[in-house]
Amino acid sequence: MDIECRDVSFRYDVPGGDWALRNIDLKISQGEKLAVVGPAGSGKTTLIQLLDSLILPTTGDILYDGRSVKTLAKAKNLHGIRRRIGVLFQFPEHQFFQEMAYDELVFTMRNFLKPDEETIEIRACELMDGFNMDIDVLKTTSPFSLSSGEKRKLALASALMISPEVLILDEPTAGMDTSGRNELMRIISTLHDTTVILITHNLDDFLDHLDRVIGLSEGRIVCDVHRDAMIEHISDMENAGIVPPLVLRVQHWLRKEGIRFEKPVYSMDTLIVCLKALQEKKKEMPAR
Ligand SMILES: Nc1ncnc2c1ncn2[C@@H]1O[C@H](COP(=O)(O)OP(=O)(O)OP(=O)(O)O)[C@@H](O)[C@H]1O
Ligand SMILES: [Mg+2]
Repeated sequence: MDIECRDVSFRYDVPGGDWALRNIDLKISQGEKLAVVGPAGSGKTTLIQLLDSLILPTTGDILYDGRSVKTLAKAKNLHGIRRRIGVLFQFPEHQFFQEMAYDELVFTMRNFLKPDEETIEIRACELMDGFNMDIDVLKTTSPFSLSSGEKRKLALASALMISPEVLILDEPTAGMDTSGRNELMRIISTLHDTTVILITHNLDDFLDHLDRVIGLSEGRIVCDVHRDAMIEHISDMENAGIVPPLVLRVQHWLRKEGIRFEKPVYSMDTLIVCLKALQEKKKEMPAR
């Protein structure tokens, strides 16, 4: 599903509330992997709530495959869009309400698609195998007694149960240790055709898996760049209060020192390999 925001602004309906988002123009094509970054309060969560049509633009419009969210809302037809989008919220435990973790896992599929229980269980087993979580344990465990990393995994698995076309993740690695983060990266890297929109304060974690980065500051888009062009926008990002990934900051600094690679690299491990190769090359060069 292609999504387009056309001049979208949003203001919460509270006394004295300021604009949370202003004049957002954004096109997201099916299958794109993008990160939304920005300081606290810059409007990231508001943006994904709009993209998931949980809230409607105060002004402007959002088009899903060309269909206006306002028209769909008037026709009470938003569920058709929402069942194609999976969301992992910033605090997934706030959304839990089932007694057992298994029922939480299958809730969306049970209610949106209404298949028989056997089909649900087959899908749940298939998915949880990849998540290293035991279905039988989930059937006898409260979702609230899981660790914060496990809660996040459960919420992500629940969103993936219905194979959404678009997956939205709000701070998915918060509260996760390194192995949890690696597992999440592995899961994301298998979602080839799914659009992935993720909010993060730590771009370094995801850089290897992204096509594009959108920077927000005070409710406005201050950068919308392809990953390969990001190194040219380091100063713009810093000026907007966004911390660029360390691996790109190092390469930005190296460029100033006259060291430039053919293409930017996106992991520290690769950067170290490139620097070692450069050092070897220098050693081989005849001294002048
Ligand atoms: N339910 C709400 N009612 C009123 N104002 C809100 C509400 N939620 C957010 N805001 C305001 O809207 C603006 C954007 O908030 P939002 O939660 O989208 O930011 P964020 O970038 O996700 O921040 P964080 O990094 O802290 O999660 C902020 O000024 C915030 O105070
Ligand atoms: Mg937020």
